Amino acid sequence: MIEKKEVGEKAIEFINDGMIVGLGTGSTVYYFISKLGELVQQGLSIKGVPTSKQTEKLARELGIPLVSFHQIEQIDVAIDGADEVDFDLNLIKGGGGALLREKIIAKAAKTFIVVADSQKNVETLGTFPLPIEVVPFGFEMTMKYIRELGGNPTLRQRRGTPFITDNGNYIIDSSFQEINQPEELEKNLNLLPGVVDNGLFVGIADTVITIVDKQLITRVRK
Ligand code: 5RP
Repeated sequence: MIEKKEVGEKAIEFINDGMIVGLGTGSTVYYFISKLGELVQQGLSIKGVPTSKQTEKLARELGIPLVSFHQIEQIDVAIDGADEVDFDLNLIKGGGGALLREKIIAKAAKTFIVVADSQKNVETLGTFPLPIEVVPFGFEMTMKYIRELGGNPTLRQRRGTPFITDNGNYIIDSSFQEINQPEELEKNLNLLPGVVDNGLFVGIADTVITIVDKQLITRVRK
């Protein structure tokens, strides 16, 4: 928790008055959003674009003004967490089930900054089962195709029923052992019938704020 707070609050340094800010989802970015709420109360003028209903609720409670895509052309900076981060700043995201909106917002942002505690840093992606958002219709077939790509898929459940995303879809979590070619897997998964998007974020993150050897560090994509 202390690490999450440290990296989350550090991201505030990337925010300037007047910015449109993408607001991520999860327990790390929570600290960023809370700090942002405090600054808004003190007069900072920004507008947020939330990546989930959960974040939208939090932002509203904190008094952060929100906008949606029909009101803006671009996002200045998006801040979000991750489930895994590799040395090239490629990510696995979607542990909270918000990967689709998170990817839309991250890609729309001029700068995408990830806040990740030390546990999220990996040499190779793939220990964390990859979240894949699929349409409910025929998900059994989509799972079969994921198996054919080398995955070991399971349907995400909450209290005995399928987990439903903010977009009305299912999440399939699939381990792939080591993901040595994340770009290829991201594309191949998105070609499968029924797949809406997957939690591989390749070449999108510009900066990762994290902890290594108990030190807060900022890694920038080469
Ligand atoms: C939600 C996400 C989160 O950013 C990711 O799961 C990390 O969450 P946390 O900060 O709670 O560890 O991708 O879909």
